[in-house]
Amino acid sequence: MKAIGCPISGRVAGKRAIVTGAGSGIGRATAERLAREGAAVALLDIDLPAAESAAERLREHGLEARAIHTDVTSEPSVEVSVGEAAAAFGGLDIVVANAAIQLFGEDDRADRLSLDVWRRTLDVNLTGCFLTCKHGVRALLASGGGSVVITASPTGLFGRARGFDAYSASKAGTYGLTRVMANDYAREGIRVNCVIPGFTDTPLVASIMQDDSRREAMLESVPLGRTGSADEVASAILFLASDEAAYCTGSALTCDGGITAV
Ligand SMILES: NC(=O)c1ccc[n+]([C@@H]2O[C@H](COP(=O)([O-])OP(=O)(O)OC[C@H]3O[C@@H](n4cnc5c(N)ncnc54)[C@H](O)[C@@H]3O)[C@@H](O)[C@H]2O)c1
Repeated sequence: MKAIGCPISGRVAGKRAIVTGAGSGIGRATAERLAREGAAVALLDIDLPAAESAAERLREHGLEARAIHTDVTSEPSVEVSVGEAAAAFGGLDIVVANAAIQLFGEDDRADRLSLDVWRRTLDVNLTGCFLTCKHGVRALLASGGGSVVITASPTGLFGRARGFDAYSASKAGTYGLTRVMANDYAREGIRVNCVIPGFTDTPLVASIMQDDSRREAMLESVPLGRTGSADEVASAILFLASDEAAYCTGSALTCDGGITAV
């Protein structure tokens, strides 16, 4: 496991953050990046051991982190978790709604897609995002403002992910939620933006990464010709979460190797 550094330049020093899906991949890298840049971070995940091991690693480096078991599909779970983080840190300034699933081998084109797979996907990816925003924004309002960053996807913008109809629809929903919430809360000191990661090397897409022909076919569509790393996406989320993005709201920041440009 690579070593993590101490705070780099304090880009979010003194801020208090929650990150959902922080036990793995982009969420984990984001929690680490926010903590290294000076934020107190709560790592929310349905996989508590994963979130706990990520938080423990940060604490070992003297950073402020706590893991909280959260199922983003359950409103009581999200409400309690957000409340626990806000109480522990004395408020919240940053909400990263990132948790999602992609049901490889089950998601499908509409005529073959089961209602169960549709509902499971929408439940985690869109309802979970909404519940995180709902309770996260309440905490931000109580703190006098803040920043929400939602992890969306190119699949929510274009119809390129053939056979991933539930996932694509769920991610289109997060894109719409980003923009309307940006308008809803702009006058109350809350910015809402989304990041659009491309093909990022995380456990979510492990089945493609391990299949040479599928990986090569995927990379054909990426102008930069490679996958992104979770750390690279975390950098984009850090920017949107920080005061450096003070004039950005309702934006979709691509971090996708150029996929959405072509
Ligand atoms: N990896 C990619 O190529 C890629 C591309 C575009 C968008 N994204 C998006 O990036 C985000 C992070 O994905 P990742 O690649 O890091 O995935 P990942 O599978 O590595 O991590 C997802 C995390 O979400 C957690 N989670 C799942 N269901 C949950 C629930 N009900 N409640 C709480 N936590 C739950 C998992 O336990 C896991 O820790 C997702 O929103 C995903 O859609 C990923």
